[in-house]
Amino acid sequence: MRAAAEIESFQAIGISRLAHALKAEGRSIIHMEFGQPSTGAPRAAIETAHRVLDADGMGYWESPALKARLARHYKERYGVEAEPDQFILTCGASPALVLALASSFSPGDRVALARPGYVAYRNTLKALHMTPVEIACGPEARFQLTAAALAALDPAPDGVIVASPANPTGSIVAPEEMAAIAAVCRARAIRIVSDEIYHGLSYGAPTPSMLEFEPDALVINSFSKYFSMVGWRLGWLLCPKAHLDRARAYVGNLFLTAPSLSQHAGLVAMDSRDELDGHVAVYARNRQLLLDALPRLGLASIAPPDGAFYVYADIGHLTDDSVAFCKALLNDTGVATAPGVDFDPVDGARFIRFSFAVSTLEIQEALGRLEPWFKDAATRR
Ligand SMILES: Cc1ncc(COP(=O)(O)O)c(C=O)c1O
Repeated sequence: MRAAAEIESFQAIGISRLAHALKAEGRSIIHMEFGQPSTGAPRAAIETAHRVLDADGMGYWESPALKARLARHYKERYGVEAEPDQFILTCGASPALVLALASSFSPGDRVALARPGYVAYRNTLKALHMTPVEIACGPEARFQLTAAALAALDPAPDGVIVASPANPTGSIVAPEEMAAIAAVCRARAIRIVSDEIYHGLSYGAPTPSMLEFEPDALVINSFSKYFSMVGWRLGWLLCPKAHLDRARAYVGNLFLTAPSLSQHAGLVAMDSRDELDGHVAVYARNRQLLLDALPRLGLASIAPPDGAFYVYADIGHLTDDSVAFCKALLNDTGVATAPGVDFDPVDGARFIRFSFAVSTLEIQEALGRLEPWFKDAATRR
């Protein structure tokens, strides 16, 4: 019998557990370890949910209105034509990723991805008995995949996961590079899965959809980030028409439908842009505060935080054990962060990720605690 794949758990979960234990002891904790907005769902979405809860039987359901609204979103935002039926609603981007991979690739297939990258890419591939092909993307590549790196892989992988803006770095692939990646993938028959979960969270750089360059790409997205609806568990897979029957067979067997209540609320959230853009304005302020302060902390080498709500910083001058470092930082200051090993099994021991999806007051408080701690850490070394 073949053994189940071994996959690692998130180290950030351990840090978070410690943070909650310290909080229970009465300590003041600032949660910068997870990529989740501290704001709730848009007000109008919550009001709708309250109303619908008393009136709807909540059966298995895919909201035709939400799928039509998503199709309009792609037309307006990206100039991409998609039929409402091409959207498969899921419980967040996580099952959308499983669906995209399971319905596109076979066990043993090789799928390329950037290192550093979102931990679940590597582990979901392994759980599906596929082979992650990690491409080291350091400062010289702005921590992002490039067409040249994909073209250089020999043999060509069966697929690639593109993530822009990316987790943990926030780096964005420029439109010309996206076009070049799409061209290499077309020429080498590499199927693209594009994770666009951080769209809507950019601090100036454009974030085109991969569909503008490759209509056969599978796109995953979610209400967890820009829409600030993490716990509502709602996302989507936008599928090329030729792939739809296959993907529908998978979703019907693996997941069935997304929560009805969340679909009602998500539809309303899509028209709550003023409130949601208000959150983005807060992230932009938080980001600037961090960027101004990090050199004072001695953190001069960071990935370009073009989008999302993360800063991924090199702490190699202070440690070669990012897990121990995050624990010590949390114990001493109450500031919880994510160790780089979650995102990069090779170099992540000398990186740390800060999430700035918290309030500006919390960022200011965190910086007040971090500055003396990092100065001390530098002298201890
Ligand atoms: C890059 C990326 N993709 C997908 C997800 C999964 O998000 P969800 O399942 O909440 O939609 C996350 C969560 O942090 C992420 O960072």
